[in-house]
Amino acid sequence: MAKRTAPPIHLVRTVADLRDTIARWRAEGLTVGLVPTMGALHEGHLSLARLMAERTDRVVVTIFVNPAQFGPNEDFDRYPRTEASDLEKLARTPAHLVFAPAVAEVYPPGFASAVEVTGPLTGTLEGAFRPGFFKGVATVVTKLLLQALPDIAVFGEKDFQQLMVIRAFVRDLDIPVEILGGPTIREPDGLAMSSRNAYLSPAGRAAAPTLHRVIAEMATAIGAGASITAETARGRADIEAAGFRLDYLEARSLDRLMPYPGDRAEGPGRVLVAAHIGSTRLIDNVPIEAGRARSVS
Ligand code: PAF
Repeated sequence: MAKRTAPPIHLVRTVADLRDTIARWRAEGLTVGLVPTMGALHEGHLSLARLMAERTDRVVVTIFVNPAQFGPNEDFDRYPRTEASDLEKLARTPAHLVFAPAVAEVYPPGFASAVEVTGPLTGTLEGAFRPGFFKGVATVVTKLLLQALPDIAVFGEKDFQQLMVIRAFVRDLDIPVEILGGPTIREPDGLAMSSRNAYLSPAGRAAAPTLHRVIAEMATAIGAGASITAETARGRADIEAAGFRLDYLEARSLDRLMPYPGDRAEGPGRVLVAAHIGSTRLIDNVPIEAGRARSVS
């Protein structure tokens, strides 16, 4: 059966047009949700748009491949740009407006400011392997929040450290927006959906589900009281045996994602991983629900 075509979604490219539309909604007393993305939309992004539509009257999705969050040797140039198909996908969600600015609209000549979260949260994990990444994310997300001034903005938990960094500067800078985390959406074999999965070779795609399998096993064992050192060593060996080169594999507490003080998880946390397979870098994470399993046994 032929797919029914949805009416095209409204698209704006300037901050002035974005603000005009939102001002009209505000005048009608409507609430606004924001879904910032870099495009190349997959089911994970679409689920965030749907989540936002359950909470707010009007949903704005932003599509902007932000040069400020890519390092000089990273994939800014080859990052997938699929605007036409993104707009078609969004037309079939409850989203109302797309804001897809050009680089010069976001960073006009003379732009010279930045937002940076310092301290342990940004000095570790992604922050250690991608210098400048969180500064680029914090700067663009601050701009998007101030441009749209939504009631709520949603970010995927797949980028868990990014979500924590965003919560940190929104709190520190008194930005009056509620930040919501959206659950990671996975392929049937467990691979977390990501725009970068498009880079995977068939062999890489076949190996990729190992990441989720290993961190899920680690999180269950560590949550039940197993040694973090032993579980991490076993996890590293499994991931490397599948052909990955690890950047990190860590069990961390929810306190700024710092290491647990001892070798057992004393409270809730996260197992986080970043690893390369071929020329593709993947990240993933799952919760450690420490305490629960032990308290019932
Ligand atoms: O997670 C992303 O896609 C990006 O880092 C974000 C939050 C849209 C900022 O560019």
